[in-house]
Amino acid sequence: MQNFDFHNPTRIAFGQGRIADLATLVPANARVLILVGGASAEKTGTLAEVRQALGARSHATFSGIEPNPHYETCLRAVEQVRAHGADFLLAVGGGSVIDAAKFIAAAALYTEGDPWTLVEQRGRTIERALPFGSVLTLPATGSEMNSGSVITHHGQGFKRAFSSPHCYPQFSVLDPTKTYTLPLKQLANGVVDAFVHTTEQYLTYPVGGGVQDRFAEGLLMELLEVGPRIVAAPEQPDYTDRANMVWAATWAINGMIGSGVPQDWATHMIGHELTALYGIDHGRTLALVLPSLLHERRVPKRAKLLQYATRVWGLGEAAGDEEARITAAIERTRAFFESLGVPTRLSAYGLGAEAVDAVVANLEAHGMTALGEHRDLDAAAARRILTAAL
Ligand code: NZQ
Ligand code: ZN
Repeated sequence: MQNFDFHNPTRIAFGQGRIADLATLVPANARVLILVGGASAEKTGTLAEVRQALGARSHATFSGIEPNPHYETCLRAVEQVRAHGADFLLAVGGGSVIDAAKFIAAAALYTEGDPWTLVEQRGRTIERALPFGSVLTLPATGSEMNSGSVITHHGQGFKRAFSSPHCYPQFSVLDPTKTYTLPLKQLANGVVDAFVHTTEQYLTYPVGGGVQDRFAEGLLMELLEVGPRIVAAPEQPDYTDRANMVWAATWAINGMIGSGVPQDWATHMIGHELTALYGIDHGRTLALVLPSLLHERRVPKRAKLLQYATRVWGLGEAAGDEEARITAAIERTRAFFESLGVPTRLSAYGLGAEAVDAVVANLEAHGMTALGEHRDLDAAAARRILTAAL
């Protein structure tokens, strides 16, 4: 196992009815700016619940944070933070709203120039941020318990990830019943996103991280179990299944399974370009890339792919020779995504060879040509992966 630091300061308030706890989680004298996305928080009644729990605290609301939050929108929120004199942010929504809160929290205290530099420098230059909490309404990104954020520079047409130890939520309220209003598509996207977060930190090469591996395998197996049930009956939600999905998505990317082990993230970097170019939902881009990427990388990932085949899919020695078991595990992964209604082929979105050219050109333009746990997944490999996904 490699050396690591692990520190996660986010308090989790988990369970039905926990929004009421905002009454004590938010500092009593805070001036709060609530951040929301489009109409969902208002329509579902979550926003009203949040406002009630805030009681007599001064609060205002900024709405209009779009999926794949735009830098330009975040800047308008920063203006409102200053106009309201807010000293505490409360994100109510999915990954996009929570990610936006992280950037807004840092940008609100940054007066030295263009705040895009905070993102451009991948968060390394963030020295402080406003405190913030979140109320999660969409289990997928894990943003509720990590320090990462992905912001889209709409003007320049690309997505960029940053992270900073100053950008952990102070707390996150995880009420599984808040997922009951999610449309089928977002539920399926969430299962795929959490699954791929786990594989990005698990399907690399062995370093003796037995605890991290078993934890990752447990998360994958839980998602394989509850994902299909959740997607089969989006309108008859089962509390236990939703609770396990929420908790799996949080642990898939809160730092624990990635501590002391190599990390890949190439699927995410290629996926971000697909979202920026074609507006495909984040989770759906991952399903397009991962199966082909695993085939392409089957040599460097061989030992972990075999472990995955055996422990997650039950494809032991009786299931064939090593090559056959690796192929079967990858194809079962593809079939799992497809069974959730999430396509694994670019053609499902009407995209062809021109999209391969465009994504590879953008990866090159954005310096994304040394990806993967060995930093050797270059533009030519990305081209082969995308071509195999046509
Ligand atoms: O905007 P509203 O009206 O609120 O509707 C949202 C949005 O349209 C809707 N929604 C959310 N909760 C709902 C609901 N609809 C009904 N009932 C509810 N309870 O769902 C739609 C999608 O929301 P969004 O927040 O965009 O989705 P998600 O949570 O998948 O977040 C995606 C963003 O997170 C980034 C992605 O790149 C993308 O920008 N990621 C962040 C990560 C992190 N911070 O660690 C890691 C991830 O890999 C990912 O890159
Ligand atoms: Zn993701």
